[in-house]
Amino acid sequence: MERAPRKLGILTGGGDCPGLNAVIRAVAHRCARKGVELVGYRDGWEGVVAGESMALDRGAVKGVLPLGGTILGTSRTDPLMVPDGVVRIRRTLTEDGVEGLVVVGGDGTLSAALELVERGIRLVGVPKTIDNDLCGTDFTFGFDTAVAIATEAIDRLHTTAEAHNRVMVVEVMGRHTGWIAAYSGIAGGADVILVPEYPFEVEAVCERIRERQRRGRNFSIVVIAEGARPSDGAREVVERRARVRPGEISDWLAREMERCIETETRTVVLGHIQRGGSPSAHDRILATRFGVHAADLAVAREWGRMVSLRGTEIMDVPLADAVRKLKTLDPAIWEIAKVFT
Ligand code: F6P
Repeated sequence: MERAPRKLGILTGGGDCPGLNAVIRAVAHRCARKGVELVGYRDGWEGVVAGESMALDRGAVKGVLPLGGTILGTSRTDPLMVPDGVVRIRRTLTEDGVEGLVVVGGDGTLSAALELVERGIRLVGVPKTIDNDLCGTDFTFGFDTAVAIATEAIDRLHTTAEAHNRVMVVEVMGRHTGWIAAYSGIAGGADVILVPEYPFEVEAVCERIRERQRRGRNFSIVVIAEGARPSDGAREVVERRARVRPGEISDWLAREMERCIETETRTVVLGHIQRGGSPSAHDRILATRFGVHAADLAVAREWGRMVSLRGTEIMDVPLADAVRKLKTLDPAIWEIAKVFT
């Protein structure tokens, strides 16, 4: 059997997400217990390329469990697009004596990770995104916190919408998938839920509002994912790696709706509020379980694997099973949403 690595590194890449610090802390504790030294690279792949790191012993992760963001910083830098990126990564790891990496990221960061594995860099992956759209795992940490924040916002908007007999269009994150929209819409009792997976018709949305009004319900809550699009092609579908402009689709929909219903309409864009702040207890636990398992994989030199949640169990899958594909909204969840919308 090969000996355990003496030193490992960890980085967090892509958009931040509540629970990243819980993963870092879990990896640090597990490594300390196993007598493995750990360093953290700053700002995602940027830090590995540039050789910028910090020691991560147990003292360095004291008090970070409830903190949002990431103590290491993050970036969306793709090391394969940086001149000599792979050579520089190899150099950093050799100079630092780091025998393997724990890479915490979403599709962009982990796609780069997979390509690096194919070029001989030793690493394991940890899936993160508030969007919950990564394959290979049932859930990512950060999602539960984002859903809780969006649900609280919808609850609050209900009372003001009802007081003014208004329609509130609430835009949540989700460029390509409607996980946050569907979960928060169901949890918050939304009257309309719009997601990228199922293009919508403006007239059908308006008819739903009119139908409520006929029943004396003079206010409505519409939850829309930022990547949702009308079925007539009036708005373009968002490209896989493209950013969406916050507020674009909800403003457009509110304007279109005001043409066909009399009711005043307001839009609320939740944006990065869904990503900031303290992780929920659920996300802290999931992130901690992922971190411990990732450290175990790296210590066992199981390179090229990603930790994963299947049902209630933590396991691991090949990185290749997780990246460059999209985990779209579970149709069974959509069926539930349709009962109420
Ligand atoms: O992928 C996570 C996510 O929060 C998406 O939901 C959102 O579209 C995107 O990141 C926003 O990215 P940025 O923080 O770079 O604006």
